[in-house]
Amino acid sequence: MDPKRFAIRTYGCQMNVHDSEKVATLLEDAGLEASSAESEADVLVINTCSIRDKAEHQLYSDLGKLREWKAERPGRIIGVGGCVAQQVGDSLLGRFKHVDFVVGTHHLRQVPELLEGARAGRRAAWVGEDKSPARFDLPMRRPEPSVGVRRKAFVTVMEGCDMFCSFCIVPSTRGREISRTAAEIEAEVRQLADSGIIEITLLGQTVNAYGRHDVRRGKAAAAGTMPFAELLARLDAVPGIERIRYTSPHPLFYDEDLIRAHGDLETLCPHVHLPVQSGSNRILEAMRRRYPRERYLEIVEGLRAARPDLALTSDLIVGFPGETEADFEDTLALVREARLVDSFSFKYSERPGTAAAELTDVVDAETAQRRLTALQDVQKAQTLAYHESRVGEQAQVLVDGPSRRGGDQISGRDRHNRVVNVDLGPDHGVLAGAQIPVEIIAATPHSLLGELLDPASGRLGPRGDSEASGHKSAPRQADEPGRVAGVADTVEDALRVL
Ligand code: 5AD
Ligand code: SF4
Repeated sequence: MDPKRFAIRTYGCQMNVHDSEKVATLLEDAGLEASSAESEADVLVINTCSIRDKAEHQLYSDLGKLREWKAERPGRIIGVGGCVAQQVGDSLLGRFKHVDFVVGTHHLRQVPELLEGARAGRRAAWVGEDKSPARFDLPMRRPEPSVGVRRKAFVTVMEGCDMFCSFCIVPSTRGREISRTAAEIEAEVRQLADSGIIEITLLGQTVNAYGRHDVRRGKAAAAGTMPFAELLARLDAVPGIERIRYTSPHPLFYDEDLIRAHGDLETLCPHVHLPVQSGSNRILEAMRRRYPRERYLEIVEGLRAARPDLALTSDLIVGFPGETEADFEDTLALVREARLVDSFSFKYSERPGTAAAELTDVVDAETAQRRLTALQDVQKAQTLAYHESRVGEQAQVLVDGPSRRGGDQISGRDRHNRVVNVDLGPDHGVLAGAQIPVEIIAATPHSLLGELLDPASGRLGPRGDSEASGHKSAPRQADEPGRVAGVADTVEDALRVL
């Protein structure tokens, strides 16, 4: 049987979600069709995450269950990509006889070739580091027709991480830092804007380290890179782009220019996700984060001076080896001092090969769980208080689609990246991709409730745009709501297993 339809199962961060989009485009170019149901697919690619052991175990559990899927129809093909693939490589082929190919994070381009081989019965793994920028040479996404109304897109600006935080596996799964040229990035953003995209999220493991090695060596001009703040200014000028976000930055790479950009650039959204990991200087040092809590708070203060309505979110780890009750209290205090509007918090998970895996003074599981719950309670109350403070404000919501809460509600994100649900009644005609002006009328711990300010402006007009959508002219777009078939359409979906 010739495989015709593919599905992709994605775990992990936005980088993985975006890698899945890239693989989808490659497979479409190879003549396959995206299928939204795995039961109908002939090819299944699992894009894996290894940030915590739970995420990694997910793959082994998935593969166990997929024996049946594969046996149901002869000729079915299973590929494994992502960080676990990069890490464990071809040993996956030895351990799981029903896996046909393994593709590392630097080798997405090789997916069609691996698939071709699998069709001919050759099982193969393509992992290892590829340091050449050629790995960014991927076919441009075609927003139509498979994707439909898409107004948001991810754009890779750099990949890899040279920071080696002591708890983190990413430097070994994503390799060394490598930045794309600014010209390539800008060309991609212009093309996206021409196809109707109004919001871009710049991606990189340490996104604001963009170009830093070239800048430091005085070779930025030759390499075609520039400081991150300059890249932002360049993309801010692209007609049609109304919202720019970036994730995830590292505190070490905030300079005056980047902080000032938050006040100066109209398209830069008033939301920053800035992982801090811990509020204790002792633990930050053991984590090799290279900043004390005071520096983190100084950056936050600077960002707030530039952009007073900034919504700050963060990542936190509890139960790192050696963390005492006093260290944990410092983390709670920092959550308050930095006024985090939300955070992702995790129990420390030991990763093989990392520096922290050598540490012996482990925190017992019960204590770690207690701290996680206490931290999440503090955050929940603070998130609700923030949401309540927004009641009465006006906001612009970029509609993602029907709300998960059902009924006639639609759901989207405001510029602060908060989820806003809006009750529109039946036959409202507001489609995914519309940008609608709302007044915030109520707050819940997880979202805001908005009321449409001008119902007419929520409808997709001939420009596929609302009156209130901003200062730049947005180009036309397709008029069917849609998603990348087989790819998680929200980061929340992708994160569901972590
Ligand atoms: N254990 C727990 N959490 C981790 N993270 C990264 N590595 C680990 C680990 N070993 C968290 C950090 C990071 C986020 C993406 O995942 O908070 O910012
Ligand atoms: Fe991991 Fe630290 Fe690099 Fe972030 S900066 S990816 S936490 S090593």
